[in-house]
Amino acid sequence: MGLIELGIHTEQSREEFLLEKNGVSISLKRDDLIHPQISGNKWRKLKYHLEEFYKGSYSEILTFGGAFSNHLTATAALGNLAKIPTSALVRGEEAGDSPSLKFCSEQGMQWQGISRKDYSLKEEAGFMDSLRLLKSGLYIIPEGGKGAPALKGCAEIVDELKGNYDYLALSAGTATTAAGVLANPKAPKILVYPALKGGAFLKRAIATYLDEYRTFYALKPFSPALLAEKLELREDYHFGGYAKINDSLVQFMNMIYAQHQLKLDPVYTSKLLFGLLKDIEGGRFKAGTRILVLHSGGLQGIAGMNRRLARKSQQLISYE
Ligand SMILES: Cc1ncc(COP(=O)(O)O)c(C=O)c1O
Repeated sequence: MGLIELGIHTEQSREEFLLEKNGVSISLKRDDLIHPQISGNKWRKLKYHLEEFYKGSYSEILTFGGAFSNHLTATAALGNLAKIPTSALVRGEEAGDSPSLKFCSEQGMQWQGISRKDYSLKEEAGFMDSLRLLKSGLYIIPEGGKGAPALKGCAEIVDELKGNYDYLALSAGTATTAAGVLANPKAPKILVYPALKGGAFLKRAIATYLDEYRTFYALKPFSPALLAEKLELREDYHFGGYAKINDSLVQFMNMIYAQHQLKLDPVYTSKLLFGLLKDIEGGRFKAGTRILVLHSGGLQGIAGMNRRLARKSQQLISYE
């Protein structure tokens, strides 16, 4: 089976107007509609990893992630669809009763929870090579679906843009998606809302990814001014850190759903839209500015988040 036979298309990712505030218009690019399980930026990131898998003599995909990871569920679903065995090392402590991991198992992924300490070993030089030696035929996809092939897939977002926008706004975890968008010479200016605390480091990460991408695909160097010209990091809307959430964010998600029938995910896109609206309220953009928000998916994470919220007797995300 090849990429084409999988039948995953990005035409479903339409652009649609969402709302206007203080004269600033917000539209959405609905990457969340690409596929029920391999949605949002997941197909973008996995597509060319899969191409590399098919090009080499690989027999299995191994990847990494947390117990509620969108990347793990998407990789498991893709493996099932493409009939490729998948396995994963999962950051241990919370692995217990995660609905996301249950889904991964149903899709045939073999996963194993390991301690945070062991998990962090994957960043050490030589670790991936030792995994490859342990088992032949492994195609390893880094945590969060990072890597040069992921940038290639995310760069395609820009080629699909139909409307005229002053900015493309997107959420960041690893900032692979942001780097992929910037890798496309036609990229508009981007507003990046990190889903984690202290997101300033992502600027350096993006520069590194772009360099790796250029090397991997033997491209010309990027302009040294690229990031200064096109990248704006908006770091203040992390809500305390990665996957941290409070009542006001939940209320915001429920309100957006009630008003626009739009489902946001609790880790990435909710913080993105919340932050963007706050920036607009704060007068950061002049009237007439057109902003396109990338809906990068992640809705599978709602069940796990609601479980955590229920345990703490906090308000639940409710899209009824
Ligand atoms: C739904 C969703 N949106 C945004 C992101 C952030 O993407 P990136 O890690 O490329 O910054 C992720 C993580 O992969 C995600 O799952």
